[in-house]
Amino acid sequence: MLLKDKTIIVTGGNSGIGEAIALAAAAEGANIVIDYVAHPEETASLVDRAEQAGGHAVGVQADVSRSADLHAMVQKAVDTFGRLDVLVNNAGIETRTSLLDTSESDFEKVLAINVKSAFFGSQAAAKQFIAQGDGGLIINISSVHEDWPMPGNIAYCVSKGGIRMLARTAGVELGEHGIRMVNVAPGAVSTPINASTEADPEKLKRLDAAIPLGRMAHADEIAEVVAFLASGRAAYMTSTTVVVDGGISQGSVGL
Ligand code: BGC
Repeated sequence: MLLKDKTIIVTGGNSGIGEAIALAAAAEGANIVIDYVAHPEETASLVDRAEQAGGHAVGVQADVSRSADLHAMVQKAVDTFGRLDVLVNNAGIETRTSLLDTSESDFEKVLAINVKSAFFGSQAAAKQFIAQGDGGLIINISSVHEDWPMPGNIAYCVSKGGIRMLARTAGVELGEHGIRMVNVAPGAVSTPINASTEADPEKLKRLDAAIPLGRMAHADEIAEVVAFLASGRAAYMTSTTVVVDGGISQGSVGL
C-alpha cells in the first residue's frame, strides 16, 4: 500500500475531486481527515466508505476561508492520528462571470475559498511539519487555469494564478525544512463544478471536441496522481505543477 499510516487532510473533501482523493488515499491505507463546510451526512457516508476501502477516516467541519478553522483542522488531524504527513488544498468554487459582471462579494468569496484557504492551510500545515521535524508535503489542486485564461471565469483564473505562485514561492521558502509544495492542475473533470456544462449537450460537445483525449476526466483520474505524489515516490518535486488535463491546454485549431 502506497500510503500506509500516512495522515492526509483533504479540504473540500466530501465531493468532487476531494471525495475521489479521500477514497483513493484510503484504498492505499492512509488516515484521511475530510474537511467539509456543509452536508455532514455526506461526510459521514464518505468516512464509512473510506474505512471500507481500507483506510481510517474522520470528518472535520472547517470553513477554509478562515485561518483559525484551518489551524483547528490541522490540530484535529494531529489529535486523531498523531501527526500530519500531507495537506491537500482542494476546496474550490467558481462563478463563471467576466471582469465586467463579477460582483465584489463574489470576487472576495472565490479568492477566499480558493487561494486564501490554501495560503493559511499551508501555513498551519508547515508549522506542524516544522514541529514534527521530518518534512512534509502540501499538494494544491489548482487547474490548467493557473496559467491559461478562461474568459468568462476570471475570478477563478485570478485565484488559480495565485495558487501557481503560492507553490512556486512557498516551495522555495520551505525547502530548507524538507517541506515540498506541488500543484496538480486538472483540466475539465466530471464533478459538480462542471454540472452546468454537462447538462448542456451543445456545450459538452464543444468541450469534448477541445480535449485531445476527447472527453472530460473522471475525478479518480486526478485522485490517482495525487495518491502517487502523496506516497513520497516523487520526492524531488517541489515548487512546480503536474498537469492532468487530457491535453486541453495544449490544444489548437491549427490554422
Ligand atoms: C474549471 C472548469 C473548466 C475546466 C477546463 C476547470 O478548472 O473549473 O470550469 O471547464 O477547468 O477549462
